[in-house]
Amino acid sequence: MPLLSLFLFLVTCGAALSSTGYFWHITDMHWDPDYQVTDNPLAVCPSASDPVKNPGKWGNYLCDSPWALINSSIYAMKDIFPNPNFIIWTGDDTPHIPNEKLSDEAVLRMIGNVSQLIQHVFPDIKVYAAMGNHDMHPKSQFPATGHLIYNRTAELWAQWLDAASIPTFQKGAFYTEKLLHQKGQRIIILNTNFYYNRNALTVDLSDPAGQFQWFDDVLSRASTAGEKVYIIGHIPPGFFEKKRGTHWFQENFNKRYIEIITKHSQVIAGQFFGHQHRDSFKIFYSNNGFPVSAMFIAPAVTPWKTTLAGLQDGSQNPGIRLFEYNTDTLQILDVVTYYLNLTFANTWAPRWEKEYRLTEAFQVPDATIESMQTVLDKLSQDKSHLQKYYEYNSVSYDLGECNEWCRTDHICAIKDVDYSRYKNCIKSGGSSGMNEMWLLWLSVLILALLFRYN
Ligand SMILES: *[C@@H]1O[C@H](CO)[C@@H](O)[C@H](O)[C@H]1NC(C)=O
Ligand SMILES: *[C@@H]1O[C@H](CO)[C@@H](O)[C@H](O)[C@H]1NC(C)=O
Ligand SMILES: *[C@@H]1O[C@H](CO)[C@@H](O)[C@H](O)[C@H]1NC(C)=O
Ligand SMILES: *[C@@H]1O[C@H](CO)[C@@H](O)[C@H](O)[C@H]1NC(C)=O
Ligand SMILES: [Zn+2]
Ligand SMILES: [Zn+2]
Repeated sequence: MPLLSLFLFLVTCGAALSSTGYFWHITDMHWDPDYQVTDNPLAVCPSASDPVKNPGKWGNYLCDSPWALINSSIYAMKDIFPNPNFIIWTGDDTPHIPNEKLSDEAVLRMIGNVSQLIQHVFPDIKVYAAMGNHDMHPKSQFPATGHLIYNRTAELWAQWLDAASIPTFQKGAFYTEKLLHQKGQRIIILNTNFYYNRNALTVDLSDPAGQFQWFDDVLSRASTAGEKVYIIGHIPPGFFEKKRGTHWFQENFNKRYIEIITKHSQVIAGQFFGHQHRDSFKIFYSNNGFPVSAMFIAPAVTPWKTTLAGLQDGSQNPGIRLFEYNTDTLQILDVVTYYLNLTFANTWAPRWEKEYRLTEAFQVPDATIESMQTVLDKLSQDKSHLQKYYEYNSVSYDLGECNEWCRTDHICAIKDVDYSRYKNCIKSGGSSGMNEMWLLWLSVLILALLFRYN
């Protein structure tokens, strides 16, 4: 008996020790090649919407990234954790400037420069990369029928792509591979730019490039094969928490995305997206109201102030993110976000520091779907947790108070990816749908008991 306990103890320890892996997530670098430090407020960067005072070497809150910042972010990853199991990179390499100032060649050159930098700093690390809406010319116009930019990007990423990934990449910039060639583990790289409501080339299509059908099929096969799957992409479904009612997907595409995630949630171990330049997450629910999958939305490297009308404090500090995961089950164990305080960098030195560790900041055991639901419950119920989350949302740039209006926007964007549910959530001031669900069940139960004993 003691021997058996010892054996079990050793097995448990062994499993616990051997199974933690790490991957970096980096996104939205938005290089502005014309950024310059000058006294002329109109000549600092073409990506700014207002005159820029006091620009610094490492960038400015109104501008997209100078090369020095992008370089610094990739070297920071190398400094902080040099040997991740892999890296995910979810796109957007070019500056927020008008299409007329860009071209296929300009976009490809910038994708090429950033790719080269990552390849130089992490020569032996596998990178899974998705294209962002700014990695196309004209921006966001991703055709469903192939494009020179898909072909050339596949060439730039040749060292990262399995040969079998190239045909779907050339067709529509999506692909799937066994994660690190391991049995039972898979990653799916989506091109969700097809679903963006600003993409005029796909508005009338029901399934651009057949990606949804392909996605559904890949997940069905993964299920049959007993695999666990990570999903990455650039533009997330659902709503943007910083501006009420703002969403990116066309509604029919949003529905289809949710249907596929819900149908296959058993095999999905995590979804990782960018585009919002904000640190947040989303929860997907089963039809009977149970949390089944979490999407982690990583902050950007660019500090650029968004030009979305009506949005206050639209800047953020540059952020990068390290995930800890169980290499057997792909369960997410923790999320550690590092950042550059841009003001500090420009005044003193570019110091990348830990911003927060999810399990510490929100007192949860890990970053599984159950724990992310607990985080959401804490945000809904506790002002101090909400405030903390709010400050992290802009990577510790906007330290203002998250009031009741703000709370509603954030809670509803996290828990209601579906458009009509979101509208109801906003109407009800962000009261928790999960709690309503439980209350409903509880009432049914109580009624049933009353009925029985009367
Ligand atoms: C990139 O960063 C590294 C590490 O800090 C530094 O040695 C190198 O000079 C930088 N390169 C450029 C082009 O900024
Ligand atoms: C970007 O790549 C081009 C070649 O495509 C090269 O001439 C240029 O020096 C690179 N710029 C940087 C900052 O790496
Ligand atoms: C991309 O490459 C494929 C395979 O070589 C080719 O069939 C296709 O015509 C190319 N597309 C473009 C737009 O260059
Ligand atoms: C960023 O740095 C500035 C200048 O050192 C400092 O005033 C500010 O408090 C810092 N912000 C955070 C969130 O630490
Ligand atoms: Zn972006
Ligand atoms: Zn984007």
